[in-house]
Amino acid sequence: MAEKLLGETQSIQSAGPRAKSAEPDIVVRNLTMAYGDFVLMRNLNFVVKRSAVFIIMGGSGCGKSTLLRHLLGLKEPATGEILYGDLNFTHAGSEAREQQLRRFGVLYQGGALWSSMTLAENIGLPLEEFTDLSGAEIREVASLKLALVGLKGFEDYYPSQISGGMQKRAGLARAIALDPEILFFDEPSAGLDPISSRLLDELILEIRDSLGATVVVVTHELASIFAIGDDSIFLDADSHTAIVQGNPRELLEHSTDPRVRRFLTRGAEGEPETPEGSKAGK
Ligand SMILES: Nc1ncnc2c1ncn2[C@@H]1O[C@H](COP(=O)(O)OP(=O)(O)O)[C@@H](O)[C@H]1O
Ligand SMILES: [Mg+2]
Repeated sequence: MAEKLLGETQSIQSAGPRAKSAEPDIVVRNLTMAYGDFVLMRNLNFVVKRSAVFIIMGGSGCGKSTLLRHLLGLKEPATGEILYGDLNFTHAGSEAREQQLRRFGVLYQGGALWSSMTLAENIGLPLEEFTDLSGAEIREVASLKLALVGLKGFEDYYPSQISGGMQKRAGLARAIALDPEILFFDEPSAGLDPISSRLLDELILEIRDSLGATVVVVTHELASIFAIGDDSIFLDADSHTAIVQGNPRELLEHSTDPRVRRFLTRGAEGEPETPEGSKAGK
């Protein structure tokens, strides 16, 4: 079944620009994640559809960032596998993996801009590393990407000279420097005020639309989850499994699982705390 779907994905890819479709872009099969003997999540099975905004949600410490690390190839599955299109990423050779990594854009939690470099220089880094563009061309692409995130004219500013929300957007400009097919975000709105957070959400959707990119977001911000999520998976730390999947707004409406309800109806502010400190447990 998956092979058939993946075959169709391939033909769409070669037919032209990436269009929004029901085709799977990422397939996660029987993924078990562990640090040594400590099994974080067992048997995760899910599909991320092309150009969807897919949310990885769950309480603090349940393994959201770890799942992202698996998707990025920074950590290997204990068991199971991850497929991108027709590439079995988990079992691919290093060259095929490298090529796949070039199709990713990542915005880490901190934004992680180099403080000693201007915004244009920060955004130019991946272009210098992975393209043959000249200095002037790199500068031009950097300006274009900054304009896309609402930072036109800020090329020569240093990160410390702009607000936290602007830093996040500059990080986003860097993440899209190479026109990625898949964008990964780890808690993108952490530390932002509600307005900056909404602006970032809107930008994420705009960029998804303009690049046709698939977007995977780790977040516990309810406002974001409902505003941008097409699909989601909910990781539960106590059972070490994904207990539910689906469109977050539909889950809010229809899910009867008390854990899901508790999570989705909690106030929009702050990381939901699990009273049992469930992550330390088993
Ligand atoms: N490198 C590591 N070695 C061992 N345990 C880790 C490591 N990184 C994270 N953990 C543990 O794995 C669990 C999940 O972490 P993480 O994926 O960061 O959770 P989340 O992003 O959902 O808050 C936590 O209990 C954390 O302490
Ligand atoms: Mg995390």
